[in-house]
Order: sequence, then C-alpha cells, then structure tokens
Amino acid sequence: LKALDAPATPQHRLELHIHNLSNRARAGTIHLQRPSSRPIPTPMFMPVGTKGCLKGVTIDELMHCLDCPIILGNTYHLAIQPGTELIREQGQLRKFQGNGNHNLLTDSGGFQMVSLSKLSNVTEEGVTFENPFAKGETMLLKPEDSIRHQTNIGADIIMALDDVVSSVIADDDRFREATYRTLRWYDRCLQAKDEGDPDHQQNLFPIVQGGLDTGLGGLREQCLAGFRNRDQDIAGFAIGGLAGGESKDDFWRVVNQCCKSLPDDRPRYLMGVGYPLDLVVCTALGVDMYDCVYPTRTARFGVALINGGTCKLKAQACATDFRIIQENCKCQACQRGITRSRLHFMYKTGNPVAVQLLTQHNLAYMMQLVGDMRNAILENRYPEYARAFVKNMFVEEA
Ligand code: GUN
Ligand code: ZN
Repeated sequence: LKALDAPATPQHRLELHIHNLSNRARAGTIHLQRPSSRPIPTPMFMPVGTKGCLKGVTIDELMHCLDCPIILGNTYHLAIQPGTELIREQGQLRKFQGNGNHNLLTDSGGFQMVSLSKLSNVTEEGVTFENPFAKGETMLLKPEDSIRHQTNIGADIIMALDDVVSSVIADDDRFREATYRTLRWYDRCLQAKDEGDPDHQQNLFPIVQGGLDTGLGGLREQCLAGFRNRDQDIAGFAIGGLAGGESKDDFWRVVNQCCKSLPDDRPRYLMGVGYPLDLVVCTALGVDMYDCVYPTRTARFGVALINGGTCKLKAQACATDFRIIQENCKCQACQRGITRSRLHFMYKTGNPVAVQLLTQHNLAYMMQLVGDMRNAILENRYPEYARAFVKNMFVEEA
C-alpha cells in the first residue's frame, strides 16, 4: 500500500490518503508535492535532528537502513548556528546535508526559545530571547522571521510560530492571551509565506494551543474553531502545548478533543510526543504524526527501547546479559548479534560507537512500532493490538 494512488496533477499542498480506519486509528500515506519526494506512511514517528542532522546517525543510515522517511529540524538552532542564510546559499538544508532527497519538517522556534532560553519574553511583536552564544545580546523572532528562516531552510513542512506557555505554571489570563495570539501569529505567518517565493511551496501547519480546558467554551475549542474557520486549504494541523508535565488524563482528554475536531482529510501532528505507550494511545485517538528527542536522547544515556519497556545498558545486570537488545529488531547491533553485555562494556569504556549503535536501535524500534501500528490498522485489529501492547508494557520485566 506504500505508494498507492499517487496524485497525477501537481499539488499546491501535500495530500493525505487514508487507506483504512480501525475504530478511530488511521493508516494513510502523505504525498508531498516536491518532485520525487518519498511518500510518508502514517502513523509516523519523526526523529529530531535539532541542527538538521541526528547525532551519530547519517542521513543515509536513516533513510536506507532505518527506513525513516522524514526527520525534523529546529528553526531556533539553525538560525543561531550556522544561520539560515548560509544554508540557503548552499541550496537549502537538504543539499547542505549532502544532496539528500529526504523529507524534512521544521519547528518554528518559539517553543525552543521559551524552553531553552532562561531569558525569553513574549510580546505581540514576537519572542525576544538571549543569544546563547553572546551573553547579554538579545534577539527578536517575529512570525515573519520564523517563516523567512524556514523558507531559507527549505523544509517540506513548516510550522507557524505559536505562543507556547507551560501548562503547569501559566495562569488563565496568560493562557487566553497565548491562545488568541497563536491565531493572530498564524495569520502573520500565512501572509509572510504567501508573500515569499510562489514557486517554492511549503506546507504551513498551524499549531493548536489552548491549555488543558477541554470544555465547550474553553480555550482549546476557541483555538480549534479559529483554525477551522480560517482556511479551507490548511495542509495539516499540529497539536501543541502538551507533554509538558500535565497529567496523562489531561493529556489524553486534549488529544481526544483535538482529533475529534480537526478535519479528517488532513494530517494531525502531535508535537513533542515520543514515548511508545503515548504513540499507541494517541494513534487510537486519531493522531498521524509524532516527534520527540526521547528515543535518541535516551540512547545517549545508555537506555534501550525494548518490548515491554526499557533496558538500562549501563546497569551492572547487563554486564552478564548475553542476549541481543531485542529479538527481531532490524538494527545493526541486533542483526550482528552484539550483546547487551558487549554494549555495556562499550559504554563503560566510553566507546562512542555504543551511542551510535543504540541510537540506531532505538530508532529502529520506533520505526518498527509505527509499522506494526499501521499494519494492525490496515488489518482492522488496532484495538486488540493496543490492548496487547499496554498489557505487555505493564507485565513483562526486562
Ligand atoms: N514542540 C513540542 N510542543 C510544542 C509546541 O507546543 N509548539 C511548538 N512550536 N513546538 C513544540
Ligand atoms: Zn536493535
């Protein structure tokens, strides 16, 4: 089903083809409009290459060994270093990375500034933050700047600048301001994009904000209604403001509300979510795309994703664990028969290959997970799949 019914006419935005529903879980394919771009099966997990590439994994390994069709980059990081003009001069990020043909998505920058810079301040104009490379020097990122940077980078899917507030610290007034500002900033982003190069069509996703109040007159509903009423031609929608320390109950409630309210024929992208269990649950609610640093970051700490949970390779118990990380895994380490014990000692002696191998393993695990979910949906057995996954997560000891 991979490349089924590819559109015959040139598109001005991506297209999502839904092949099957299993209850509310969706199996589909996203066709980007860039010529010869690779179709993206959904549900899909996108690894995060903050500066446009992953630590310890090459683009070739990602695309060809791990079968990963799309990666995510961050506008904030790329704008600070090496700067997006330099990337544009070298033929945009795809070429800058070595003549690749890989699909790219970039986040708009606001979230990273607010979460990474201690000295950030949001006004109607944009986000002001301290340049991490020049203490005391402040920079301003406006919605128009975010689009300019993302056009320079040249990703297939770009994000509107949103006003992100932490759901565990902000008060009601700040949430209200952030929600309506996110709608206004989307309008500025859309206008900036339309005034840009018309030959270079990128897919601009708005980001639904609105805190945790899922009530009828609540801010989430206001934000959803705002985007629904804006533009019939929005390429896809992101769900933001989650995975920031709220309870699982609140998290699921908001994801459920957003999926029910967003149009069925556009991709739904849940930002910053990457725990395997969250993917299984949110796919049941109708989410199509995910991204998170978790699988790659946790690999750097020596934690492997395995069926039923995780395996801490640095733990003493692994010194004498002669199993491979995970049976039936397609990664290099598991295929080669490299044991947990071997990896344990590679970590212990500081061999950087250990991190590379484990990063690849964790990404192979995520690709296997989304592939398994997709097959279960295509075969109308997603509820059974999800139940078995959850049961295994809470029973088996690694
Ligand atoms: N990454 C994770 N959550 C968010 C969010 O709410 N907004 C943006 N822009 N990026 C995110
Ligand atoms: Zn593996």
